[in-house]
Amino acid sequence: MSPRPFDGQVAMVTGAGSGIGRACAVLLAQRGAAVIVNDVSVEGAAATVEAIRAEGGAAHAAVADVSDRAAVETAVLAALAGLGGGDVIGVLVNNAGIASRRLPIEEVDDAILDRMLGVHVKGAFHCTQIVLEGMKRQGAGKIVNISSAMGTVGGRSGSHYAAAKGALLSMTRTWARELAKWNIHVNVVAPGGVFTAATATIRNYAEEAKTRVPIGRFGEPEEIASLVAFLASQEANYITGQTVSANGGEFIH
Ligand SMILES: NC(=O)c1ccc[n+]([C@@H]2O[C@H](COP(=O)([O-])OP(=O)(O)OC[C@H]3O[C@@H](n4cnc5c(N)ncnc54)[C@H](O)[C@@H]3O)[C@@H](O)[C@H]2O)c1
Repeated sequence: MSPRPFDGQVAMVTGAGSGIGRACAVLLAQRGAAVIVNDVSVEGAAATVEAIRAEGGAAHAAVADVSDRAAVETAVLAALAGLGGGDVIGVLVNNAGIASRRLPIEEVDDAILDRMLGVHVKGAFHCTQIVLEGMKRQGAGKIVNISSAMGTVGGRSGSHYAAAKGALLSMTRTWARELAKWNIHVNVVAPGGVFTAATATIRNYAEEAKTRVPIGRFGEPEEIASLVAFLASQEANYITGQTVSANGGEFIH
């Protein structure tokens, strides 16, 4: 494989100001992509852009809340123009997410539910709709959605998060069939526990991993990014509609 399989391509990663999204953006840039770094956090997006540029890569921030269709479209189109690398986004990683609060069902009110579904489900719809026209025009595209083991196997609580992540699985399966005729491939990655800002506050997280995960630890953002980069590459041209889990063997199905 060429060390720079994404040369000449524009990739967009949502929620790229931190954690898994940042690792994806950095790796795609290292492999040649010019990257649109979306995040709702100005500082987070700027730090990722800075990290990519410091390594000689190309990146542009697109600061917006993915659940706000108009805001994200405006920011992404401005970033695309700012990159100056053509008008097609060939790779989209729908990663933006909010942490699963382990809420019991009784505590999931409408505001919490709307926010959870708004960011994960509506956000992925908005961003996918934004990139589609260009992907269809060039007759190729790769979309990688980030779900969770909470989406594939559920949890003991946090059903609002499980609902949002489960929706990403069925959206992926449907989009894969719907978009295959334009050579657009859609897959979904379901990580288990990964050390990021979202999980840093969970007490005894590292200790928990030693007993819960056969490999004996939770994952690193870079270990999810390498899977995402594979699915986004030409190496994965016969893979679409699939859920790929990365969880150190915690869930085997
Ligand atoms: N860390 C884990 O253990 C784990 C496990 C499974 C799945 N995931 C999923 O991976 C993705 C990334 O999680 P992470 O652990 O890197 O979290 P993180 O909190 O480190 O990063 C998430 C990023 O998304 C951004 N974001 C949040 N809401 C947004 C919005 N409305 N619009 C744009 N950006 C927004 C945040 O500002 C943040 O920079 C999420 O979808 C999460 O559900 C994480």
